[in-house]
Amino acid sequence: MTTVLRKPTTWAQERTDADPMLDEATAERLLELGISRRRLLSFCASMASLMALPQAMAPQLAAAATARTRPSVVYLSFQECTGCLESMVNSFAFRGGATIDNLILNLISLDYQETLMAAAGEQAEEQLRSVTQRSGYVLVVDGSIPAQWDNGYFVSGERSGVARFQEAAKNAGVIVAVGTCASFGGLPKAAPNPTGAVSIQDLMRRLGIGKPLINLPGCPPIPEAMTGLILYYLARGMPDLDDLRRPSMFYGETVHDECYREETYDDGPLAHSFDDAAARRGGCLIKLGCKGPVTHNACATIKWNQGASFPMMSGHGCIGCSEPDFWDRLNRNGRKGFYVPLADDDDDDDDDHGHRGNRSRDHDDHDHHDHHDRDHRRRRHDDDDDDD
Ligand code: SF4
Ligand code: F3S
Repeated sequence: MTTVLRKPTTWAQERTDADPMLDEATAERLLELGISRRRLLSFCASMASLMALPQAMAPQLAAAATARTRPSVVYLSFQECTGCLESMVNSFAFRGGATIDNLILNLISLDYQETLMAAAGEQAEEQLRSVTQRSGYVLVVDGSIPAQWDNGYFVSGERSGVARFQEAAKNAGVIVAVGTCASFGGLPKAAPNPTGAVSIQDLMRRLGIGKPLINLPGCPPIPEAMTGLILYYLARGMPDLDDLRRPSMFYGETVHDECYREETYDDGPLAHSFDDAAARRGGCLIKLGCKGPVTHNACATIKWNQGASFPMMSGHGCIGCSEPDFWDRLNRNGRKGFYVPLADDDDDDDDDHGHRGNRSRDHDDHDHHDHHDRDHRRRRHDDDDDDD
């Protein structure tokens, strides 16, 4: 998304019959933010396209984004590194403040967020109590939570993580687990999981909390996916979710499906080290442990840092950060590790310690076909389902 904004014209100058009916007060607010109405519509059109919605939805998204009633959002952090929030905030700040993406932050009512709010201590606790007494707010959570309420690993406001979450969830309308720690447990849950961390979904199951839940995994998640999800939720309510409760519009395909290195996945040349000629010419990184074929995320389409790049474009394989248990995934020969190739790619000579052994490179370049064939079969199967 470009950061260059032309000088906004007046709202009236931009109004046409085809435009959504946005009220003048909102228009003035947008102008104060340096965001013209045309810019808003163009932003909504590009968000519609990111979410694979028809362009005709752009006015509906724009109307939702500028509705007078702002949804109340309570954002709680548990066992996390603040990377999820950092990613989103830096992304907004990078665009210089008067940007279109921070429109979302301005149009939700962020009523509680420990890192961003000025209040601290008892004052902050009072704010949390007062906001969560109302009902229907969006509860955003990052970080996983130790399932045992009294084991002492997470205490905030003199309450355990479990108690804190339970209280906040009570009156929430919908719960959004942001990041892989909240969605699936993430790093805190990695073996040996010393704190007994569980995902939000797991904790909700244990506590018998039946609220709608959306998982937005990634370490961190893509900021545009967060913006898009909020916009979609305001306009249309709950999105379609996959079986891990991730919005299908952002997690419906694997990173591999859209990776530009996929051209060499079949016939090579594959990269065998991060700086070999094949790697530099866009060779597939499957031999270097890329987990793209089994990782559902939109990195290869939305990309990162305002569309500048994504891991494989920067020469590194996907480590599978938006999938459950990515730290502990068992790969080739049952080995863990970000640089260990996928299990389906494991008919290499494993004890050659990096040497080529007697196998020809041509042979190696094709020894992952079983995996690829299966991947294509899966996609064909999905297409068949769609046809049904
Ligand atoms: Fe890209 Fe990785 Fe798939 Fe190769 S395996 S095409 S590098 S996502
Ligand atoms: Fe994560 Fe893989 Fe994207 S590591 S950031 S899902 S390319």
